[in-house]
Amino acid sequence: MDRASAIEVNHLGKQVADASGTLTILEDINFTVSAGQSVSITGASGSGKSTLLGLLAGLDVPTTGSVRLAGQSIFDLDEDGRAAVRASGVGFVFQSFQLLPNLTTLENVMLPLELAGREARTPALAMLEQVGLAHRLNHYPSTLSGGEQQRVSLARAFVMHPPLLFADEPTGSLDAATGERIIDLMFSLHRSQNTTLVLVTHDQALAQRCGRQIRLHAGRLVDEEAT
Ligand SMILES: Nc1ncnc2c1ncn2[C@@H]1O[C@H](COP(=O)(O)OP(=O)(O)O)[C@@H](O)[C@H]1O
Ligand SMILES: [Mg+2]
Repeated sequence: MDRASAIEVNHLGKQVADASGTLTILEDINFTVSAGQSVSITGASGSGKSTLLGLLAGLDVPTTGSVRLAGQSIFDLDEDGRAAVRASGVGFVFQSFQLLPNLTTLENVMLPLELAGREARTPALAMLEQVGLAHRLNHYPSTLSGGEQQRVSLARAFVMHPPLLFADEPTGSLDAATGERIIDLMFSLHRSQNTTLVLVTHDQALAQRCGRQIRLHAGRLVDEEAT
C-alpha cells in the first residue's frame, strides 16, 4: 500500500431525499490519512460518523466527491470492484460484533480465509491464541461474553492482515474495563501489523489514543488537529 496516502478524501458529500426535500448528511469532507496512522472520528450522535466510515470503505456511494484507498479511486469502480478492494484490503469491527451465530469462534475466524481460498485453520488458531481465546474455540457467539465476542471479531479482521481497518464504536456496547482491554488489543495489533486504523468513537479518552483526531459537526469536518 502506498505509504504516502492510505486514504484520500476529496470534497466528499452525501445527501439523501427526505420528506422535506434533501437532507445533507455529509458536506465537503476533505482529509488524507497516511499508511500506518491511527485516526479517530468523533462527533455527536447523528453527526455523520457512520455514514463517513461507510463511504471510506465503499459500502455506500457518495453524492459528490471521491475516496482513494491506496491510490485507487473506489467510486470509479463498480460494486464488484469495490467488493474486491474490501475483500483484499479492508477489515471491519462493529459495535454489534457481527459474528455469524451458527459458526463457532474458530469457524468465524477461519471464514474470511476460506472465502479467499487460503489455508484457514492454522492462521485462525494462531490469531485466536494471540487474542487470548484459545480456550473458546468451539463456543458459539451467543455463549461468549461481549468482550470475548469483540475479541473474536478483532481476530477475524486481523487474521487477514488488512492494510486498513475501520472500527465503528468498537467499545460502544462493552463496559469500561472490557472496552479498555479491547482497545489495548486493537492498538497492539495495529502496531504489530502496521495497519492503518480509522476508529469512530464517542469516547474522548479513546480518541486521544489515536495519532490524529478528526471531528464531525452536523456533517462537516471541524477542528482537525494533527499530532
Ligand atoms: N439512508 C439514510 N436516509 C436518511 N437519513 C439518514 C440515512 N443515513 C443516515 N441518515 C441520517 O444522517 C445523520 C447521520 O447519521 P450517521 O452517519 O449514522 O451518524 P452517527 O454515526 O454520527 O451517529 C443522522 O441524522 C441519520 O438519521
Ligand atoms: Mg454511528
